[in-house]
Amino acid sequence: MRKNIIAGNWKMNTTLPEGLALAKGLNEALKGKSTKCDVIIGTPFTHLASVAAAIDTQRIGVAAQNCADKEKGAFTGEVSAAMVASTGAKYVILGHSERRQYYHETPEILKEKVKLALASGLKPIFCVGEVLAEREAGKHFEVVDAQLKGSLFDLSPEDFGKLIIAYEPVWAIGTGKTATADQAEEIHAHIRKTIANKYGKTIADDCTILYGGSMNGGNARDLVAKPDVDGGLIGGASLSVEKFMPIVEAF
Ligand code: PGA
Repeated sequence: MRKNIIAGNWKMNTTLPEGLALAKGLNEALKGKSTKCDVIIGTPFTHLASVAAAIDTQRIGVAAQNCADKEKGAFTGEVSAAMVASTGAKYVILGHSERRQYYHETPEILKEKVKLALASGLKPIFCVGEVLAEREAGKHFEVVDAQLKGSLFDLSPEDFGKLIIAYEPVWAIGTGKTATADQAEEIHAHIRKTIANKYGKTIADDCTILYGGSMNGGNARDLVAKPDVDGGLIGGASLSVEKFMPIVEAF
C-alpha cells in the first residue's frame, strides 16, 4: 500500500522561465519511463499554476512549499491552502526546518496549516528533524516525537492517513553531510513506531516516510534500500534534471 516518493524542494530558487524549463525538462526525462516511485516537485508559489499547466501532472505531482495558517482575508502577502489547490498543485510541504527556524513556525501554527491544507484537498508533506546539538545529546527521538505530536496527533486517523512524513535532520540539510543509511533507518523505524502507537499498525505501515538532507545520486540507493525509508525530499539536487533523475531511478 505505501508509496515510494521522490520529491524535489526547489526552495527560493529559479525565476519563472527557469522553473518552467526545469519542470519541462523533468517531464521530458520521465516520458515513457517506468519508475518505481512517484515524483513530486515543490516550486515557488509564483510558478505553481504555470508548472502544473506545462507538465503531465499525473506523472509529476506539484507541491507548494508553504501555505497560510489562516483561511482567507486581510493577511497581506499570504497564500492560502485553497489558493494553492486552485493552481493544480496537489501537495504542500509544511514544517520545513527553514520555516521553523527563520519564520518562527511553531507546532501550533503548523497544526493550523495542516488542517487547512487537508480541508483544501492538499496532501501535506510534513517535515520533522533535529538540530545537531539535539542529535549529539541523543535527543533526536524525543524531538521528532514532539514535532509529530505537537502538530499532527489531533488529526483523525482518516486525515493522518493522507500525510506524507519527511524526516530531515537539520545538520544534513544543504551541508553535504548525509545521515548514514543506518541512522536514517533507525529513526524512520522509530517514527513509524510512534505513529503505530497512536494510530495503529495499518496506518503506520501505509505511511510514506521520506528522508531529506543532502540526498543525491550517489547516496540515494543505500538510503532507499532501507525498509523504512520510502523515498526522499531533495533540495539542491532537485535543481537540475541530471542530478534529480538518478535519485528517481535509485529504487
Ligand atoms: P538538501 O535539502 O537536499 O539541499 O540538503 C533538503 C531539504 O531541505 O528538503
